[in-house]
Amino acid sequence: MDGVVRQYEVTMELDVADEIREFLAGQENKSLLRFLTCGSVDDGKSTLIGRLLYDTKLIFEDQLATLERDSRRHGTTGEDMDLALLVDGLEAEREQGITIDVAYRFFATPKRKFIVADTPGHEQYTRNMATGASTADLAIVLVDARKGVLRQTRRHTYIASLLGIRHVVLAVNKFDLAGYDRAVFDRIAEEYNSIAGALGFDTVVAIPISARHGDNVIMPSSNTPWYDGPTILGHLETVPVGDRLAEAPLRFPVQYVNRPNLDFRGYCGTVASGTLAVGDKIVVAKSGKGSKLVRIVTSDGDLDRASAGQSVTVLLEDELDISRGDMLVAPDSRPNVADQFEANLVWFDEHALLPGRSYILRTETDQTPATVTALKYKVDVNTFAKEAAKHLELNETGVANLSTQAPIAFDAYADNRVTGAFVLIDRLTNATVGAGMITHPLWRASNVHWQALDVEKTARAGQKHQRPAVLWFTGLSGSGKSTIANLLEKSLYAEGLHTYILDGDNVRHGLNRDLGFTEDDRVENIRRVGEVARLMVDAGLIVLVSFISPFRAERRMAREMVDDGEFVEIFVDTPFEECARRDPKGLYAKALRGEIRNFTGVDSPYEAPERADIHLQTPGRTPEEIADEILNWLKERDYC
Ligand code: ADX
Repeated sequence: MDGVVRQYEVTMELDVADEIREFLAGQENKSLLRFLTCGSVDDGKSTLIGRLLYDTKLIFEDQLATLERDSRRHGTTGEDMDLALLVDGLEAEREQGITIDVAYRFFATPKRKFIVADTPGHEQYTRNMATGASTADLAIVLVDARKGVLRQTRRHTYIASLLGIRHVVLAVNKFDLAGYDRAVFDRIAEEYNSIAGALGFDTVVAIPISARHGDNVIMPSSNTPWYDGPTILGHLETVPVGDRLAEAPLRFPVQYVNRPNLDFRGYCGTVASGTLAVGDKIVVAKSGKGSKLVRIVTSDGDLDRASAGQSVTVLLEDELDISRGDMLVAPDSRPNVADQFEANLVWFDEHALLPGRSYILRTETDQTPATVTALKYKVDVNTFAKEAAKHLELNETGVANLSTQAPIAFDAYADNRVTGAFVLIDRLTNATVGAGMITHPLWRASNVHWQALDVEKTARAGQKHQRPAVLWFTGLSGSGKSTIANLLEKSLYAEGLHTYILDGDNVRHGLNRDLGFTEDDRVENIRRVGEVARLMVDAGLIVLVSFISPFRAERRMAREMVDDGEFVEIFVDTPFEECARRDPKGLYAKALRGEIRNFTGVDSPYEAPERADIHLQTPGRTPEEIADEILNWLKERDYC
């Protein structure tokens, strides 16, 4: 039997790649349906997949002899394409070195070939679903016939619609345990239709099944004589699949520039959508520079044309300045290039999405820091109602405006599922924490241009005879930040330097009066003060910033707002017990009695700097000594 097994589990190492390549080659002329299953283990997801794999294998045995002959002598252009389809979506994760829990299984029947993204049904479910679904055409949503439609059924269906999946199947499983009762099926199917009907799928089909006993999975069941719809497999074999990416305009992200010698300059990548042919005109998305395609090279020789999914190297008539991350596109149908846009977001992380925090946004071509500038709303999965929200928690979805540090090239996700998608990556843990589907660019932002000014930072600083810098004090409340900053400013002032102090308590009386002490508000607090500090550095000042600034991510963001060498992080390291003992404002006493909520060190975290530029242990030392230490540090490094 070993020789006839035709199902493969693709692991991240792709050690079975050759076998799959061979198999795909033999399967080339059949259409391909990519689908995923949603539901928890208890709903029978694994059993259903197992049954599909096992029973189709039996159907398949007839054909094996022919197939084996075919696949042995095959070696055509289509195979790369299919292999890419099989593994795409994994690329990003692999490059990041994170593990994902999606196994792609492959099977086929005489009518069609299938790739099922098998996502385990434990927590972290949404992440796996979003990763596995990025290219899926259809979702099978499982429910237990005894339980019916649950909150997670709604969530999975909603996310499937966000991900651009066109077809959903509701598999009403364990139907044997519901006595094959038609009324049960009708009730569940009706409820589901009303949910999925509102989400704009092309097809919504409910099927009563027992994955365990095989009812209506492959063969119609005699236990449900009243049911005259398709079986699961029958539906999978006939549901229409169009290759939307092949029909979309050309998008060719350059993954690598191949320049072995001066005469050859090839751009390597996988065609994300559309087709390219020798003689076609192209433009580079961001620069707008144009040229003509003169050659398409593959390891199997030159091609005249290549289409979505194929990995090729292209040569252009002109020498353009093109590098990794550029995108070659159809001149008459270009993507948007913008640094602000609106997107649907799905959040996967335990730690909520915080507007104002800097994440790495990664698309097929670009990678750049980005923040959510406005969370417009989140979506209640029960009612699909829009709700006001300050952050997005694990498994929540919403719509937000995002702003990237550099412009990116993208399409609307509705037009292109490859170039309209992105993931957000936490900058400290490197975990993929969310996925996004872009709806449209925000042009208002692109119409505001940076005004070039004739008097520049260096001129302003030169007039003051000083080197502008941000001296950023971080530490617990009561650690001594403000006292030390105050003493240091006096010394700097005495030396004739132009300084300013931004102090948390003071700024919170004015500019940041609207902010409290939740995590969301603290992120925004630091973002704003970082921006103000940046303006002051631009004005040529030495700015002393004294804020608890409890989160590494925002301190790092503030550092990145100014040029290298302009940010000095000063950790005023006073232990919690000592701050609580000093308690200059009586706040620790209140917090410990539970009268103040979200107090740093009590019920709100403080993330100590890992590598502060200056680390000050304060116990046993006077503020004057400490301020002098900083002054000396600054002098030694020519800050003053
Ligand atoms: S930060 O965390 O957002 O950086 P910031 O430095 O602006 O805080 O403000 C901290 C000051 O606000 C403290 O020194 C204290 O006087 C006051 N405060 C009032 N409530 C809190 C609280 N819940 N947590 C911390 N500080 C608080």
